[in-house]
Amino acid sequence: MFVWRNGELFCENVKVSDIAKHFDTPLYVYSKAEILKRIGQIKSVFGDTPHLIAYSLKANNNPHILRIIRESGLGADTVSGGEVKLALETGFLPSKVVFAGVGKREDEIELAIERGIKLLNIESEEELNVVENIAGRVRKKIHVALRINPDVSPKTIDKIATAKKTSKFGIDLEKAEKILKTFTSRWVTITGLHVHIGSQIFEWEPYMEAVKKVEHLFSLREFSTFDVGGGFGVDYEGIGREFDFSGFKINVLKYLKNYVEEVITEPGRFIIAKAGILVTKVLYRKRDFIIVDAGMNDFSRPAYYGARHRIVNVVKRSGDIGMFSVGGPVCESTDVFGRNFELELPERGDFLAIMDTGAYGMTMASNYNARPRPAEVLCDGNRYTLIRKREDLNEILWRGIPD
Ligand SMILES: Cc1ncc(COP(=O)(O)O)c(C=O)c1O
Repeated sequence: MFVWRNGELFCENVKVSDIAKHFDTPLYVYSKAEILKRIGQIKSVFGDTPHLIAYSLKANNNPHILRIIRESGLGADTVSGGEVKLALETGFLPSKVVFAGVGKREDEIELAIERGIKLLNIESEEELNVVENIAGRVRKKIHVALRINPDVSPKTIDKIATAKKTSKFGIDLEKAEKILKTFTSRWVTITGLHVHIGSQIFEWEPYMEAVKKVEHLFSLREFSTFDVGGGFGVDYEGIGREFDFSGFKINVLKYLKNYVEEVITEPGRFIIAKAGILVTKVLYRKRDFIIVDAGMNDFSRPAYYGARHRIVNVVKRSGDIGMFSVGGPVCESTDVFGRNFELELPERGDFLAIMDTGAYGMTMASNYNARPRPAEVLCDGNRYTLIRKREDLNEILWRGIPD
């Protein structure tokens, strides 16, 4: 939904440069049509399997975007009390909310139990006991799933792999076996299994490997749900690379249907990454460097993970094409969005767009270097709407300071 017309980048039917002039930069711009397209794609994959698609709020939690996702019938995957609250307050039914997370505090567990969410995904035996204590205290029943660490390597960046033996996530298979053989409780029922092997995965085989690793657990209890996690990769490079959903459907989903009534999935990036861009203004040029007004505090994936996102001129001016490094204003050498981008040499004040930044962009933004977080705008056909104001500098400077 981000297209070029006469040398200008459009979001749906709106010129990105007009939006940037209106709201200033750095600015996240999203396309509603792209979000709906992606939701349609994932629904068609899971279509004939009883399922719950629980959108992973951590990817992007703007309430306006959550509303679009909720109205499309999706559920919510949450990882903190804050996300549970946000999901419920933006209208997701508790019966469609799941809560994972390796370090849940007692107040967060209590909130989830009190609000009667669908499932708590348990990450350790100790956590299971804490949940049992809290459920007994508040006298409310809760369904849980065990998050298993199946020790598989999903062929992705190490920093976003989550199911290797050395990872902090999930319960080891032997320990899970022991729990399933011995755990009984009046308040807590184990009704599901959960795995999330990592992010930015393009092949179905690692998912199948994870399912096969946990398969023997199905003989220990009846489970109604199996949560395959999220992680479906997106084509950041713009080379037409797609996750192999047809292989996933024929193999993983078909296989799971033999064991459970419902398959849960928790996609984040797949739904929202390609629906957003970060628009930034050129401040200075020196050597091969273009210094822009967006920094690693606004979009941190390149600095955290070495991720590479395409960068384009928002308005082409048929200038000389060159190879440039693009960096932000933050005082860190890692505040560089990448090197060797093929761009037209921009003028000071020109806009550039960092592409595919809808996921893990704004949710990971910070106030580092006392910088306000960016504004967010949603495009829908010919219209565009401010869906989050730029942070106010005075507010962030004094927030939380006692008198
Ligand atoms: C438990 C869990 N589920 C789902 C996701 C979403 O992953 P993705 O955005 O790659 O689909 C994550 C991401 O970290 C996760 O930790």
